[in-house]
Amino acid sequence: MCGIVGVLGNHHVAPLLVEALKRLEYRGYDSAGIATVNEGRLDRRRAVGKLVNLSDLLVHEPLAGKAGIGHTRWATHGAATVANAHPHRAGNVAVVHNGIIENFRELRAELTAAGYSFESETDTETVALLMRHELAQGGTPAEATARLLPRLHGAFALCFLFEGEEDLMICARKGSPLAIGHGDGEMFVGSDAIALAPMTDRITYLEEGDWAVITRAGAEIFDARNARANRAMARIQVDATRIEKAGYKHFMAKEIAEQPVVLADALRHYLREDGLNLPAGVDFTGVDRLTLVACGTAHYACHVAKYWFESLAGLPCDIDIASEFRYREPPLSDRGWAVFVSQSGETADTLAALRHVQDKVARTLAVVNVTTSSIARECDVTLPIMAGVEVGVASTKAFTCQLTVLLTLALKAAQDRGRLDAAQLATRLADLRLLPGLMNAALALAPEIEGLAEELAKAQDVLFLGRGAMYPLALEGALKLKEISYIHAEGYASGELKHGPIALIDASVPVLVLAPRDALFEKTVSNMQEVMARHGRVLLLSDQPGIAEAGADCWRCLTLPRVPDLLAPILYAVPAQLLAYHTAIAKGTDVDQPRNLAKSVTVE
Ligand code: F6R
Repeated sequence: MCGIVGVLGNHHVAPLLVEALKRLEYRGYDSAGIATVNEGRLDRRRAVGKLVNLSDLLVHEPLAGKAGIGHTRWATHGAATVANAHPHRAGNVAVVHNGIIENFRELRAELTAAGYSFESETDTETVALLMRHELAQGGTPAEATARLLPRLHGAFALCFLFEGEEDLMICARKGSPLAIGHGDGEMFVGSDAIALAPMTDRITYLEEGDWAVITRAGAEIFDARNARANRAMARIQVDATRIEKAGYKHFMAKEIAEQPVVLADALRHYLREDGLNLPAGVDFTGVDRLTLVACGTAHYACHVAKYWFESLAGLPCDIDIASEFRYREPPLSDRGWAVFVSQSGETADTLAALRHVQDKVARTLAVVNVTTSSIARECDVTLPIMAGVEVGVASTKAFTCQLTVLLTLALKAAQDRGRLDAAQLATRLADLRLLPGLMNAALALAPEIEGLAEELAKAQDVLFLGRGAMYPLALEGALKLKEISYIHAEGYASGELKHGPIALIDASVPVLVLAPRDALFEKTVSNMQEVMARHGRVLLLSDQPGIAEAGADCWRCLTLPRVPDLLAPILYAVPAQLLAYHTAIAKGTDVDQPRNLAKSVTVE
C-alpha cells in the first residue's frame, strides 16, 4: 500500500506531485505529504486525511522547488497523524516509503543508543535516521545508500531526497514495485506507471533488490550486490480515458457499467471463431492437481472456479487464501499447476505464496489485470483479464473478468482431459458469447435496485445465501456490501444456515438469496422457507421461472435474465455490486475510498 512519487523537473514540482498523488490515492488515503529541495533547502508539507487536505495546506503554505518527493499513506506503524505522515525527515534527508521495515525495532534501539531521537511511531523514520547516520560517516549519498540497504529487512520501496542536492533522488525496491519514468531533461519515480502516465510513457521497472541514483540526465541502476545493472526501458500505454470517471459520479459506478464492454474484450482475447485461444503453454494433459491462490474478491473468484474445474474437467482443485497458504504447508504435486489470481498483481500475500511454490509445482499461472505487475512477471504464464484500469477500491469488473478467464481455463482443462467433445465445447462457447448482452440486461435492473437499497440501508445486519457455485457469490455479495456501506454482512452456503447462523434471523435481518432456477433451486427454496418461518425478510434474486415458483412469500424479488448454469455466478455478481453501491450511496459513505481500505495491499 502507500503511493510514492518523485520528480526532478524543470519547473516547480509541487503541483505535479499532488496530481500524481491523486492517481496514487487508491493505494491509501490516511495522510499525504510532499518534500522539495529549493535553493538547496529541504522542506516539507504534510496533512492528515485525503489529499485534498494537503492541497488546501499548500494554498496557504506553498512549497517551491524543482526536485521533490510525495507520498499517500495507508497507516501500518502508528495512527494517521501529521507526525506519522511521510515524507519523514532526519536532518539533511527526506524519505518516502511503501512497505514495512521488519527490523525497525532493532534499528530504532541502535539509533537511540547512538543519540538520535524520534518524532514519529513509524518504521520509516528509522530509515531516514539511518541514512542521516550513514551520511555522517562520510562518502556520497550513493555510497551511504549502498551501506544502508542491506541493513533493512522486509519489503519496501523507498525514495530519498537530500538537502543541498537539487539534481538527485535515490530510490530502492525490495518486494514493493517501483517504476522510473524518463522525460526530456526530467526524471520521475512512481509506485506504478499510472501515476506517471501524463508525465511520461517511457518507463523502466526496477527489479527485486535494485536501487537507482537518479539525476535529470538519467538513472544509474544497481542490483542487490551493488553491481551496475541494465534494465530495459519500455513504452507503456495507459489509456487515460480509462482512469477518468467519464461522467459517472463514482469510479465504482463506471466500472460496474463497463462490464459488458470489458467482458467482450476478454472473450475476444480468449475465444477464436471455432474454439479456445489460450497461450501455447496452457495444456492440461498430465496435470494432476490445481492450486488456486488469491485474497479477498479474487479468492472468491477462485472459489467459483473450483466448482468449474471439478465439474467440467474432473480436475482436483484446492483453493487457498494467500495469507494462509504458506503456513499450512500444503502438499503440492510436481505434476500440479498453481494459479495466482490478482487484480493488481502486487498483493503481498499472493506474491509470497507464488514465491513459496516456485520450485514445487510444474507450472505457475498469473490471472492478473496489471500485466507489468510482479505476479505477472514472476509466473510462467500470464493470462490478462482485460478489465482495464480499476480505480474503485471495491473490485467489480475485475471480479467478473477474473471469472470469465477462469471459466475459459476450466473449459480448456476439460477439453485437454477429454471431458468435452467438439460439439459440447461449441455449445459452451456459444453460451459464453451471450455474456455481454446478459450483463447489459442485468445492469438495466439498476433503478429497481436503487429502490431496494433504500430499505437495505436501514439494516444493521444482512445475510447472503447461495448454493453450489452461487455460494462464493454470496460471500462476495456480503464482502461488497460490508466494505463500502459498513453494514455487517455475512455470506453462507444455504444449507449451512441451520447449523448456527439461523439464530440471527428475525424481522430486522434482510436475507438475500442468490438462486437461479437450476438443479439446486428446490433445496435452496427449502432453506428460504426456514428463514421465512422465523419472520426473516427474504430478497430473492432469481430468474423468471424461479420467481414464479418461489417468489410469492418473499419480502422482495429481483428478476434476472435466464442464464446457462455456468454463467450464473458471473451474471449475479452485477445485482450484488449494484445493491452494495446503491446502499452505500443511501448511507452516504465514501464509495470509491471506503474507510481503512486501500486498493493495492502490498503488506502481508
Ligand atoms: C474487495 C477487494 C479486495 C481485493 C483483494 C485482492 O472488493 O477488492 O478484496 O480483491 O485485496 O486484491 P488483488 O486482486 O489486487 O490481489
